[in-house]
Amino acid sequence: MKLIERTLESELLAVVKELYPEIDTAGKLFVQKTGDAKFGDYQTNFAMVTAKALGRNPLEMANEIAAKYVNSSAVERAVVAGPGFINLFLSDKFLGEYVKSARTLGYDFDFMPRRGDVLVDYSSPNIAKRMHIGHLRSTVIGDSIKRIYKFLGYKVTGDNHLGDWGTQFGKLIVGYRRWLNRADYEKSPIEELERIYVEFERRIEAEPEIAEEARVELKKLQDGDPENTRLWTEFVEMSLAEYGKIYGRMNVSFDTNFGESYYHGRMPGVVKGLLDKGIARISEDAAVVFFEESEHLPPCIVRKQDGAFLYATSDLACIQFRREHYEINRIIYVTDDRQADHFRQVFRIADRMGWNEPKVHVPFGFMKFADGMFSSRKGNVILLDDLLDEAVKRARAVIEEKNPGLPDSEKDSVAEKVGIGAVKYADLSKNRVSVVIFDWDKMLSFDGNTAPYLMYTFARIRSMIRKAEEAGKNLREDADIMFHDELERALTMRVTQFPVAVMKAAEAYSPNLIADYLFELCQNYNSFYNALPVLKEKDELLYSRLLLSERVSRVIKTGLDLLGVDTVERM
Ligand code: ARG
Repeated sequence: MKLIERTLESELLAVVKELYPEIDTAGKLFVQKTGDAKFGDYQTNFAMVTAKALGRNPLEMANEIAAKYVNSSAVERAVVAGPGFINLFLSDKFLGEYVKSARTLGYDFDFMPRRGDVLVDYSSPNIAKRMHIGHLRSTVIGDSIKRIYKFLGYKVTGDNHLGDWGTQFGKLIVGYRRWLNRADYEKSPIEELERIYVEFERRIEAEPEIAEEARVELKKLQDGDPENTRLWTEFVEMSLAEYGKIYGRMNVSFDTNFGESYYHGRMPGVVKGLLDKGIARISEDAAVVFFEESEHLPPCIVRKQDGAFLYATSDLACIQFRREHYEINRIIYVTDDRQADHFRQVFRIADRMGWNEPKVHVPFGFMKFADGMFSSRKGNVILLDDLLDEAVKRARAVIEEKNPGLPDSEKDSVAEKVGIGAVKYADLSKNRVSVVIFDWDKMLSFDGNTAPYLMYTFARIRSMIRKAEEAGKNLREDADIMFHDELERALTMRVTQFPVAVMKAAEAYSPNLIADYLFELCQNYNSFYNALPVLKEKDELLYSRLLLSERVSRVIKTGLDLLGVDTVERM
């Protein structure tokens, strides 16, 4: 299905070409949704942006275009306004048919630059540490961006860039041999690895020899010692298995799990390349890249005095690898904003190497907790698993209160979806660079911009459709969508804006734009639902409103799916 904007633009273009064959229209003719239905449904400022160059009066030009824009498939009236706007009023017939045919929401996005792969690098926890709340945002924002680009028809690869290489492994190997508690390790492997890591740090002052021992073990690992490699592999596998449980619960997946270690073998070559090209130079025995003063970036060490490579080196090696293995459309990195300088450094260095495929850092801000969030918990690290458990528990209580009649097993599965959906949505519905404040009551509320509100609106429509069926009034795909009331037309217009909201979210790497859209859609829907009867109406209107409602439910479901939030049939 063509986007309405694209249909109007191509129709207008034909008119303009006929009127002014001399104008180069490339990139000038756009149609936009108006903010107020008084000014029509769409609007173009084309006459105003081109008149000057032609030595023409914009108002006159707008009048010429509007007068010739007849026989449109979509527009009923084109009205000139202000200094030269052309306001376009869609015909009800076109609008109704458009939404009626939007059954699969299969829009044509071929006008977008979709060549190549979009690589999304997200989640990326550090091995041998349990995922905590800090990993939530990267995981859900990255997963949503991946879903959004897929919806737009891009080829997308999600990569979990695990922190699986670094000095911590020397310490872990020492700790494993000295202090591991087998039984605890078998029960909760990462927790035990965390304990021995802390044990190492605790003892280091009294037993300085363990630091040297850890260095030796790390070196052995880096040189491929079989025993240490076996241990390292075990730590990685154990960690991945635990992460996998959380990812499964959150319905998040990856196409590849290449961690930093995957690029280890490339790092010497990368540093050599940087030195050979004069991009890096030796300074106090380290290999360092310096930046121009105007770039406001600290120097970036790519190889330390002792020959060790760093985080930046592994990211450069990773870009080199990706260039060799993918046709890159763009690479998207989702991390918190404290890594902004790291990525600016890496991108600048890569560009100097001529690795100038588009690379974007998508940063996000902190997450804070409202008072009493975790009053019962000790310690200050909030584990992701605990957060999800708590959310589901609280969602269960809310469901119990709202819908006590639901069978128990259904209450459980609904609570899981509502709880996890609420957590994800609370994060994704905020501007990602802002601080997210977590507040159980707010995020689990059935009112306001929350997952439960959207999920409830969806369930309400589904229940209406079931009721209609029970009354022998099955949804009619061939019903005409009619506008007896302004609320119906406003709702229908909103439905047509879905693909544009998705495009905007993709362009800005901001899933919250989809959340905003869905919230507005549900507000439109609930105004419609509260004011206009459906099942009590006579057939013609009943089938019209039923079909419109059904289309709204599809948009809610698809939109929530782009945020990684599940829907339920009743709640
Ligand atoms: N493991 C890193 C961390 O926990 C995030 C990695 C992000 N991705 C990347 N290509 N550097 O901070």
